[in-house]
Amino acid sequence: MMVLALSALGWALSLLLPIAAALPPQQPLVEQDDFSDKSSNLPLILWHGLGDNYKADGLRDIGKLLNETIGDTYTYFIRLDDDPSGDRQATFLGNLTLQVEKVCEDMANHPILSKVDAVNGLGFSQGGQFLRAYVERCNKPRMSNLVTFGAQHNGISEFQQCGDNDWLCQSWSGLLKGNTWTDFVQSRLVPAQYFRNPEDLESYLESSNFLADINNEREVKNETYKKNMKKLDKFAMYLFSEDVTVIPKESAYFAEVNTTSEEVTKLKDRDLYKEDWLGLKWLDEKKRLDFRIAEGGHMALSKEILQEVFNDYYKA
Ligand SMILES: *[C@@H]1O[C@H](CO)[C@@H](O)[C@H](O)[C@H]1NC(C)=O
Ligand SMILES: *[C@@H]1O[C@H](CO)[C@@H](O)[C@H](O)[C@H]1NC(C)=O
Ligand SMILES: *[C@@H]1O[C@H](CO)[C@@H](O)[C@H](O)[C@H]1NC(C)=O
Ligand SMILES: *[C@@H]1O[C@H](CO)[C@@H](O)[C@H](O)[C@H]1NC(C)=O
Repeated sequence: MMVLALSALGWALSLLLPIAAALPPQQPLVEQDDFSDKSSNLPLILWHGLGDNYKADGLRDIGKLLNETIGDTYTYFIRLDDDPSGDRQATFLGNLTLQVEKVCEDMANHPILSKVDAVNGLGFSQGGQFLRAYVERCNKPRMSNLVTFGAQHNGISEFQQCGDNDWLCQSWSGLLKGNTWTDFVQSRLVPAQYFRNPEDLESYLESSNFLADINNEREVKNETYKKNMKKLDKFAMYLFSEDVTVIPKESAYFAEVNTTSEEVTKLKDRDLYKEDWLGLKWLDEKKRLDFRIAEGGHMALSKEILQEVFNDYYKA
């Protein structure tokens, strides 16, 4: 099994501090501007995960595999900063409202993407719920098929454990623990903006800067979010069978997990679905919502599973 090297998807909070140091040497970026009509596949936009950057070799390899599997496909790797170290830093630090806004602007002004009727989307880990936010808030160009791998659609109820000697990580998680819901943290620490503990929904609904809004969990629902989600042709969610990085891993399917009893409430049994706050029920009834499994740990992407996605969702 070929496992593509996606860098540093572990959630070590130590990485929140000086970040630029450990980047691999830069490869010149070959970005094609003449989008060829010969390719009938829709362009793909890919949002990478925590600790990664848009120029990472692992992402290039995926673009290559995509072309080899279904023919040439224009792929845009979403970035918050043209400088890869800045882009990587933005996976840890920043206000997600502004980050999604910037991506929306980049899409709407992109020389190629702004001229196409639709694009497909691929979201890795947190990039999954961020791409969904793109659909809900902007969707310009419209997204046709959205595929997410190991996303935290229903948030995380625990931050990643730190190693015993990782004092830096420990000090950050200490800071996070008591302060998750402060404006300071909510406007700066990316994972805190999709933190969601079912035992303390009150704080979450009051203070979550991102997830409570894009999941339409507050009393006033944003109808645009639902309207845009219903424009998806397909929404496929992959869950990693052995995921121990995302707690709980069922978040990838919008399920809710009781933090003490570990009881899983599936999406279909939740109000989010029953009252259809996001159009997920509507999509499901039209057979446009797919729940899929990827064997292995968090973001252990095999060549086979990627090819399955390319053939099933991105091939014209
Ligand atoms: C894949 O094909 C697209 C469209 O022709 C091209 O822009 C891109 O450079 C190719 N990617 C790779 C990695 O060859
Ligand atoms: C709903 O979301 C759209 C798109 O982000 C935004 O323009 C609009 O202001 C929001 N509406 C409400 C009531 O918050
Ligand atoms: C994030 O940015 C938005 C837009 O500027 C702002 O309205 C919001 O208050 C910020 N969030 C926090 C928690 O400061
Ligand atoms: C989780 O399970 C415990 C034990 O069964 C129960 O007391 C608690 O109310 C549950 N929490 C939620 C949010 O449902």
